[in-house]
Amino acid sequence: MKITAIIGEISKLQAEVLVFGVFSDKPAFSNELKELDKKLHGIIEEEIRVHNFTGKHGEALNVSLGKGLGAKKALIFGLGETKDFNSEIARKMAGNVVKNLKGKKYLSLAFLTESCDYKISFLELANAFSEGLILANYEFGKYKGEAKKQDIIFPDQVWLIVQDAKSIQQTQKGIAKAMLGASATLYARDLVNEPASICTPAYLAEHARNIAKESKGKVKVKIFGRNEARTMGMGAFLAVAAGAEEEPYFIHLTYKHPKAKSRIALVGKGITFDSGGLQTKPGESMATMKLDMAGAAAVLGVFSKITELAPPAEVHGIIAATENMPGSKAYKPGDIVRAMNGKTIEIGHTDAEGRVTLADALSYAVKLKPDFIIDLATLTGACVVALGEEICGLMSNNNKLSEKIKLSAKEAGEKLWELPLADEYRQLIKGTHGDIKNSGGTRYGGAITAGLFLEEFVSGVPWAHLDIAGPAWAERETVSYIPLGGTGYGVRTLIELLQKI
Ligand code: BES
Ligand code: ZN
Ligand code: ZN
Repeated sequence: MKITAIIGEISKLQAEVLVFGVFSDKPAFSNELKELDKKLHGIIEEEIRVHNFTGKHGEALNVSLGKGLGAKKALIFGLGETKDFNSEIARKMAGNVVKNLKGKKYLSLAFLTESCDYKISFLELANAFSEGLILANYEFGKYKGEAKKQDIIFPDQVWLIVQDAKSIQQTQKGIAKAMLGASATLYARDLVNEPASICTPAYLAEHARNIAKESKGKVKVKIFGRNEARTMGMGAFLAVAAGAEEEPYFIHLTYKHPKAKSRIALVGKGITFDSGGLQTKPGESMATMKLDMAGAAAVLGVFSKITELAPPAEVHGIIAATENMPGSKAYKPGDIVRAMNGKTIEIGHTDAEGRVTLADALSYAVKLKPDFIIDLATLTGACVVALGEEICGLMSNNNKLSEKIKLSAKEAGEKLWELPLADEYRQLIKGTHGDIKNSGGTRYGGAITAGLFLEEFVSGVPWAHLDIAGPAWAERETVSYIPLGGTGYGVRTLIELLQKI
């Protein structure tokens, strides 16, 4: 799909499909649209009247245009009231365009960016609309037959139509930004959707190596195996890896801008399959557990575009990659293991493995002396109970950092909500024979006790934890630009954040 900004008169357009939005509190037609409709003998206006289309948010109208113009079809979307409009509505509109045209063989599409006054900048509008198109047009098709693959072809050529030179510049910037964010997101989705028998720790390590290779020296990579991890004192990571036949790998990527002003560590949970370990999950809960490396996928997604992004910073990507399996050497309930920072962890539950691996990944990150750390982890079912499937739980020991993340997430259209790292719950994870326990013993407040556990390993460094157990995976089709399966959640928020430093 090629997305291009052009200056054009809409009545002369050659695109086969026209897309535009209508606000409920504004007249449906700009002067340009009136001109266009005149040439079509008023067919759009008539359809709007016949279908009682009022521009309410969620309304959509699909009009066949006959043969009068190049255009064969108009897709018209209700946007609601002008004051409520934001880029997420544009993103969803683009998603609905894709859904509407999937499987059809239209060759070109034009989005009329000036058919109404969107009240957000051309950059934001073009960014959100293009992002919506690319994100919605994704399918994990590599294991499907030829016929099925063809079904998802979307118009090859998309034009964003603007009226003057100033807006075209902004629009082009918006498109470029969307390409970057969306392709990093699709990179992450591919990794999450890949079956766990293929997407092993070695597979993630291979991707990290490849990112470094493609960067022409700008990204460095270190990969540690079991022995090196042991030498570094990663007793927690290795305990989780003990039950797995698959070799675990500890992955460390580094990007350093020549004028780096700050040092940032991004840590991703990298459990390539979570069976629960000896306290094995019931089959139903295990079914989607290839998703348990979605945090790692988000970090790799960001790194896949980091040289293009070129943030003025030193950015570290850290992943402790392993399976969580019930082998005969598997770690056991009651085990006490020592993390790299010297703290001992009492294993209360082998299915609370993510935080055990993160204990070492965070300890390792702290040693790099970063200005701040952000971890992304499909950490707790409790977070999904608390916030549902679409909202990420944010926990942080630093207000400034959490505010920055909230702002970035809002701009990226990724939903999150802050949960408190409540001191009162610390006693729930106090160890009996070790320093700290990996499960709270009660399911209540499970997202928070997991966050409190992680906090023990950041040594006071400004840190934020994103529990993405819900939004990393789409079980249902609820958002038009998020197909079923891995969503790539977190990538675009991190990119927004890196663009702001
Ligand atoms: N990977 C799971 C969390 C998860 C659940 C992610 C659902 C995505 C969807 C995690 O390792 C886990 O199993 N957590 C347990 C912790 C409990 C044993 C303390 C949970 O949430 O039930
Ligand atoms: Zn688990
Ligand atoms: Zn897990």
